Amino acid sequence: MAIPFLKWAGGKRWFTSRYLDILPQKYNRYIEPFVGSGALFFALEPQEAVIGDINKPLVETYMAIKDDWEQVLEYLRTHSVQHSKEYYYSVRATLPETIHQRAARFIYLNRTCWNGLYRVNKAGNFNVPIGTKTNIILDTDDFKKLAKLLENTTIMHSDFEAIIDSAQEGDLVFADPPYTVKHNNNGFVKYNEDMFKWEDQVRLRDAIVRATERNVKIIVTNANHSSIIELYSNFKRKVISRASVIAASNNNRGTYEELIIAKY
Ligand SMILES: C[S@@+](CC[C@H](N)C(=O)[O-])C[C@H]1O[C@@H](n2cnc3c(N)ncnc32)[C@H](O)[C@@H]1O
Repeated sequence: MAIPFLKWAGGKRWFTSRYLDILPQKYNRYIEPFVGSGALFFALEPQEAVIGDINKPLVETYMAIKDDWEQVLEYLRTHSVQHSKEYYYSVRATLPETIHQRAARFIYLNRTCWNGLYRVNKAGNFNVPIGTKTNIILDTDDFKKLAKLLENTTIMHSDFEAIIDSAQEGDLVFADPPYTVKHNNNGFVKYNEDMFKWEDQVRLRDAIVRATERNVKIIVTNANHSSIIELYSNFKRKVISRASVIAASNNNRGTYEELIIAKY
């Protein structure tokens, strides 16, 4: 089981530690169109995969590790040695030339910024302030292993629809989109509304329906919310909880619940 190298809003590491048995036993290619930090992709280590995301610097980071992980690690080590508040803001202010340098910058900023948040301003520049974490090289890092895993993986900078539409009979699509409705108190609700509108949720459902008509196996995660239940009313659904203990108070019921939509 490989470990994600990024901290990501909505990351599914908690899911991989408790719910892997929900997945089908057998499938051809593994396809993840909202890959983010790729928690499930890394947990499954599929033989052949397609991963994609709309976030270009993120996708480029995967590409750079696949192309030359040693260069990326070398640049990351340089950041690690030089890290300070001034250094953080100077790195944040400049976009380097090569994809390996940009990947190391992306990982460095992800590990040292406030809460591992990814946010850009209107001009598209990363604008998250420095956080409290100072560990830049992690014990869990294994870029060599990641690069090996990425060898048989097609990495796409793309909207989800084209990726799902490319799935064929027997492939597994795991779709973990931004959650549009308020389902917990993670503070990303407004941000996600701007990024991923209700029309996108409908467009996703339609792409998923088309995929199932081609006998593609699908798993979609989303908020346990009436609007989503209605959207996927023809699908088998399961409510899962990300809380380790059941909340005692009724007020908290639903706070940590998510929906798994499956057809395979
Ligand atoms: C909830 S996160 C996925 C988290 C991932 N499962 C993980 O373990 O880290 C949703 C991802 O969807 C991406 N995204 C947003 N809109 C998209 C779109 N239209 N097409 C593809 N990806 C999109 C975001 O950049 C973000 O990385």
